[in-house]
This record gives sequence, C-alpha cells and structure tokens, in this order.
Amino acid sequence: MTARIIDGNALSAEIRGQLAERAAALKAKGITPCLAAILVGEDPASAVYVRNKVAACEKAGMRSIKDVYADDVDPAVVFARIAELNADPSVHGILVQLPLPKHFDSEAVLESISPEKDVDGFHAENVGALMQGNPRFIPCTPYGVMKMLESANVPLKGAEVVIVGRSNIVGKPMAMLLLAKSCTVTICHSQSKDLAFHTRRADILVAAVGRAKMITGDMIKPGATVIDVGINRMTDGPNAGKLCGDVDFETAKEVAGVITPVPGGVGPMTITMLLTNTLEAAERCAK
Ligand code: GUN
Repeated sequence: MTARIIDGNALSAEIRGQLAERAAALKAKGITPCLAAILVGEDPASAVYVRNKVAACEKAGMRSIKDVYADDVDPAVVFARIAELNADPSVHGILVQLPLPKHFDSEAVLESISPEKDVDGFHAENVGALMQGNPRFIPCTPYGVMKMLESANVPLKGAEVVIVGRSNIVGKPMAMLLLAKSCTVTICHSQSKDLAFHTRRADILVAAVGRAKMITGDMIKPGATVIDVGINRMTDGPNAGKLCGDVDFETAKEVAGVITPVPGGVGPMTITMLLTNTLEAAERCAK
C-alpha cells in the first residue's frame, strides 16, 4: 500500500488564507504587519529563500523590507541596520538569512535582534523559552512540521520519534516541540552508530540532514509517518537540477503510512509559519 501524502502546498494555502484575514483585521486598526529580511552575500539558495519569503508577505497583505549586502560587507553595517530595525515600531519581525559569510559571528548577529521581533525564534532568549515549554516564537520549519502532523491527525502521545539531524534550526527545536507533546524522542546525527536501527523503530521519522535520498524504504517501519525536511538539488542522473528530499520518496512511500513530498511538503510550510510568527508579533503590538 502506498502512503498517504501530506500536501504542504494545500495546507499552506489554507493557513495563508486565514493569515490574510487576520492581517486585514490588523490593517483596519492601522497596523500593517511588517517583516524585514536581511540577506548577506550571493548564496543562490539563500537568495531564492529570501525572495520567496518577501513575496509571500506581500501576497498575505503584509509589508516587507529586504536589505541585501555584499559578501564582504563590514559586519558593523549589518549590526547598525539591525539596531535601526529593532527601534522601528512599524517593523514587527526581523530575520537574517543563514548561513552568513565566514567573517560574521552568526551567534552575535542573532543575539542582536530584539527577542520580540525574532520571528525565526533563534535568539537565545527564545530558544530558552521554547526549551522551558513557554515559547514566544517557534522556529518556522519545526512549527510547520507540527502543523502538518496535526492536520494529518498523527497520534503524538507516547509515539517513538526519531529525528535525523541536530541543527539549531530544525533538529533541536523539533525535539523540544515533540517532547512537549509527550513523544519519546531520539536525535540521531552524523556520528550515530547504526542509523537504520534507530530509524526502523520510529513511529514518526523526521529527516533533516541535508543529504539527498539518504533515508530509504528499508530504513522505515511499516506504517510510520515520514517527514522530509531536506531540500537538495540532484547533481546527476536524468533528474539533475531537480529538487529532492533527504528521503528516497519512491521506496519510502511503499512502506510509510504517511509521508511528506519534496517539493510541496515542509518547504512551503516554513514560509507559512514565518508569516504566522510575523503576524503574531504584530498582533502583540496591537494589544
Ligand atoms: N537558513 C536555512 N533555514 C533558515 C531559516 O529558517 N531562517 C533563516 N533565517 N535562515 C535559514
């Protein structure tokens, strides 16, 4: 039997429709939700992500500001701009696209964003709040995954969850969110011994490593829910240039009970949750 697919585009469209209504209600009170996005350097994937984030804002009736700096910009220029955006009451959310060039202290940049405007949820204060079970902003990708699990009615209480990947952006916050829902969580990474031993135990498997098709059908428990966070570009074969996930969809869908595709799965949800966080930040200002 082939797996049930969670359509990230359809779920995103539904949520974005609701967000547009909330944005319109705020506008009627004289507040236009506004996201400021900062991009440093010419990484093509980052440029596409920022372009998509800004375009999604506009489409949902929110304002956006996009600041692009050259790869060799003096970090002081970026810090000064963040301070300006922090102080601007018309700006509700600020994000700095990662990764930053090597001469930047990324941690210092993230800490310089006002925690009240940190719509990525990467500031230490917000990471701490999430860890304590009292989040202010939930990081967008794990937030989107939680919405997908909810929409597909995947049972969470007591579920065995295996997350492959331990990044600050996905793996770690994902673990915290699922732990808060009473899952039993295992985090695997590049040094884990016998990865397949762990993945085959998972009722819910989250792949967030950034390695094309590394999770194959034989690594999945029959009937499991498989969430593919990877966005990789295939380098060879007949599909060279096309996107694929960390999961080998063709073999995985024959074993899994529920699965997310790439493209059209987690990707659009990440942007949708960024819009959600920006709107929430603006709504807090209206209170
Ligand atoms: N780079 C990869 N994912 C993200 C994200 O969610 N936010 C930011 N700011 N940069 C990223």
